[in-house]
Amino acid sequence: MHVANTPAGVQDCVAWLVQKRRRVRSVEDRALEDEKLTYILEAARMIPTGANRQAFQLIVVQTKGRGGKMKRLYGQDWFAGAPIVICACAAPSYGLNVGIVVDRMILAATEQDLGARWIGAFDWDAARELLGVPEELAPIVLIRGMT
Ligand SMILES: Cc1cc2nc3c(=O)[nH]c(=O)nc-3n(C[C@H](O)[C@H](O)[C@H](O)COP(=O)(O)O)c2cc1C
Repeated sequence: MHVANTPAGVQDCVAWLVQKRRRVRSVEDRALEDEKLTYILEAARMIPTGANRQAFQLIVVQTKGRGGKMKRLYGQDWFAGAPIVICACAAPSYGLNVGIVVDRMILAATEQDLGARWIGAFDWDAARELLGVPEELAPIVLIRGMT
């Protein structure tokens, strides 16, 4: 779709990303480069939030050597093997922000040719215990990925 006044090369970018993004199960056994993680977190920082409160927190876990513990969050091997897990948290009334932030991060990961996946059906109690989710926040979604 052509959008008027959009610079050449940019106009199809969103459509391309949306079509390219797919849930990914396979993982490669390599770390996620710092600059790619920074790019993804920067995409999160740029999101619009209600009253610009940025009322969400992201807990980033480098999972190398912790696969066994990660399995307590979500019991699948492909989850435990992911090099990075990001837990997006918010007070329950700010849950909408989390939807936006996760979608943006997954698109940013897709742009970097990284696989990422939403995980909603994880063990909240295990997430609180293992990831240190603050008492007043709910762990709403995990993103697993990304290489
Ligand atoms: C809010 C949300 C929660 C999800 N939770 C899980 C989950 O707990 N486990 C899982 O394997 N996939 C989960 N998914 C991934 C979906 O199953 C997947 O995105 C959907 O089947 C469409 O496939 P696609 O992402 O390849 O287009 C979730 C997706 C969304 C948007």
